[in-house]
Amino acid sequence: MQVFTDPAGLSGPDRRRVLVPTMGALHDGHLALVRRAREAAGPAGELAVSIFVNPIQFDRPGDLAAYPRPLEDDLERCREAGVDLVFAPPADAMYLPDRSIHVHETSLSRTLCGATRPGHFDGVCTVVLKLFNLLRPVAAVFGEKDYQQLAIIRRLVRDLDVPVEILAVPTVREDDGLAMSSRNQRLSPEQRGDAPRIHRALAAAVSLRPTHPAPADLLAAVRADIESPLNRVDYLELVDPETLQPVVSPDNPDRPALLASAVFYGEVRLIDNQLLPPA
Ligand code: PAJ
Repeated sequence: MQVFTDPAGLSGPDRRRVLVPTMGALHDGHLALVRRAREAAGPAGELAVSIFVNPIQFDRPGDLAAYPRPLEDDLERCREAGVDLVFAPPADAMYLPDRSIHVHETSLSRTLCGATRPGHFDGVCTVVLKLFNLLRPVAAVFGEKDYQQLAIIRRLVRDLDVPVEILAVPTVREDDGLAMSSRNQRLSPEQRGDAPRIHRALAAAVSLRPTHPAPADLLAAVRADIESPLNRVDYLELVDPETLQPVVSPDNPDRPALLASAVFYGEVRLIDNQLLPPA
């Protein structure tokens, strides 16, 4: 496995390269993306993982500072998973002090995480485009756990003609349903015990939807199931899975809808989502 920290040391691929962009603290969710990338690259292709805690996508300095960075463990997991190339640059190697151009998304980022984390998706788009340019993969793999991020990356490659195929992997969960996340390790045992209620409440909405045609009623029922003395709901929204705009009342049960949430446990913010199929 080759490990690069200096962007200048990278060379273009001489075989089919598939990239998994990450911020490290790798868990089994990331590894599902790595397996999907190997499948897409083929045995003779090159499987690349980037590990970079991207400062410009963090809206809270405390969150950036507390983000786990177990680089040696990550490299070991990559080696075990058959990764060919890891790109793990330091922050100052990616951003020049006088940089003046970034990607700005104007529609899909208006709701959900985009509404509560100003600038977040511009930071994501900018770093992903830079990673694509530096590593030149034919394809890149993203998780449905970050549904809005996936939708925005698809829009990025569509609108800017970026020649990278975007592949998606379903959310990988702990046995109790909690979506795997690098942030889970920052939960106290009590918070960790409480957090599976998020997925339970979102999943229950699949059967609640037919009896709750008004989105506000459905959202109120789900919110009541999510809320506990240990958490605070940042947002809970029902949106169109393509435009990410709020579903208008009454809900059209012939269309799929996406139920998405962000929930704070102390300083730790957990996101999850559930696709509600058409009735
Ligand atoms: P990170 O949070 O490390 O996630 C890297 C990739 O792993 C993302 O595509 C994310 O959706 C996926 N992922 C995380 N947890 C998952 C789970 N439980 N199941 C399935 N997939 C999961 O997302 C980022 O990093 C950054 O924003 C990045 C795209 C790297 C840009 O900085």
